[in-house]
Amino acid sequence: MGNRKRKTVDESRSVMHRLVMPEDSNTLGTLMGGVLMHWMDMCAAIAARRHSNTYAMTVTVDRIQFVGSVRVGEVVNLEAEVTRAFRTSMEIGLRVIAENLDTGEKRLCASTFYSFVAVDRDGSTLPVPEVIPETDGQKKRYRDAEERRSARLEDAGRIREEAEAFDRQQF
Ligand SMILES: CC(C)(COP(=O)(O)OP(=O)(O)OC[C@H]1O[C@@H](n2cnc3c(N)ncnc32)[C@H](O)[C@@H]1OP(=O)(O)O)[C@@H](O)C(=O)NCCC(=O)NCCS
Repeated sequence: MGNRKRKTVDESRSVMHRLVMPEDSNTLGTLMGGVLMHWMDMCAAIAARRHSNTYAMTVTVDRIQFVGSVRVGEVVNLEAEVTRAFRTSMEIGLRVIAENLDTGEKRLCASTFYSFVAVDRDGSTLPVPEVIPETDGQKKRYRDAEERRSARLEDAGRIREEAEAFDRQQF
């Protein structure tokens, strides 16, 4: 499994369900953003690990917009899958759907893309299998991933300059 050169998107799919409990909520009785982001990171990491069959580190999270709040007693369904792999990095698409168990109503709460890098125990980067997109949606996300990656790498360049400027001020 670990040495496969190409894998389908479906092989990486990760699905999590969480019942929102009072300890997950703010004083208004709705889910705290930080708790949801923790669940999102876990769900995305499982997809990255399924694809790479090794350790995977979160490198970026694209914009997260919380479309609506989730109340205590509702269920949060999280779904993640790899959209494209590059050499050692993978893009993971994730969406969050809230579910009201009384009415059966489901609504989209958030969706975003993560990037993960595959590493060994010592933190050295490792190559990952290519992705085989099969459905029209998977093929579109695969094509668009290149542009999203370029934007992230541009950001990374700016952040690196900021870090270098910070380091210079320390001396
Ligand atoms: C992930 C990490 C090991 C990469 O180190 P690095 O020196 O940038 O390594 P490389 O330059 O070889 O980059 C590795 C891959 O990451 C990609 N990458 C690096 N920065 C990126 C960014 N901001 N966005 C998207 N991809 C990025 C590179 O393009 C490369 O991908 P590829 O091999 O598929 O082409 C390093 O950035 C790190 O340790 N980050 C901290 C991760 C962490 O601790 N996460 C937990 C949250 S704090």
